Amino acid sequence: MSRGLFVTFEGGEGSGKSSVIKKLVEELSKDFPILLTREPGGTKISEDIRNIILNKANVDMDYKTEALLYCASRRQHLIEKVIPALEKDVTVISDRYLDSSLVYQGYARGIGIDDVLSINLFSIDECIPDFTFLFVVRPEVGLNRISSSANREVNRLDLEKLEFHKKVFDGYMLLAEKFKDRIIKIDAEKPFEEVYKCVKDILAKRLKDHYE
Ligand code: TYD
Repeated sequence: MSRGLFVTFEGGEGSGKSSVIKKLVEELSKDFPILLTREPGGTKISEDIRNIILNKANVDMDYKTEALLYCASRRQHLIEKVIPALEKDVTVISDRYLDSSLVYQGYARGIGIDDVLSINLFSIDECIPDFTFLFVVRPEVGLNRISSSANREVNRLDLEKLEFHKKVFDGYMLLAEKFKDRIIKIDAEKPFEEVYKCVKDILAKRLKDHYE
């Protein structure tokens, strides 16, 4: 039996990827076997690890510790959920994966993309996505979307966050260059329906090629 496609979605905050993914999966799973997931993906061990990362009491957490915990959570989710589905020829769509660590921990936190890549390669047994949709939205636009959806003005904290968002944006652009063959850039500043159609056309074609 062939192995399902492993597809990931990436992008900064406010890129709108989650709403597009939801609609895509509703539509395409009528014709193809698809598992939608995101880390920690409801697996208990991954969730326990993720709770350590997100716990506000852990303000002293070292950036490399954080990167290693993301790897641990990722591996468990991969072993328990992603690989078993791929082996049944189910296509797995993951909302964030490897590239989030390369960008957030490697680039934005400053550990270095290559170091974070090497601990990830160890963690995921080289289970690299077949392709990745990168939702490209300028950081100011992404941030505006978040604050307007929360129905409030952009505040000082948001502006401080803007610096971090800019790094995330630059990091994703570097990755898109580094992994040109795998990463498909999507102009996600366009209206929802256009973004949706663009991703759907690409994905539907690849699913057809794989399953038919
Ligand atoms: P969340 O609100 O769950 O999702 P999203 O932004 O995709 O709607 O936030 C996930 C946050 O975790 C996001 O800021 C990116 C960060 N993150 C990392 O820093 N490293 C990682 O490896 C992953 C998977 C996420």
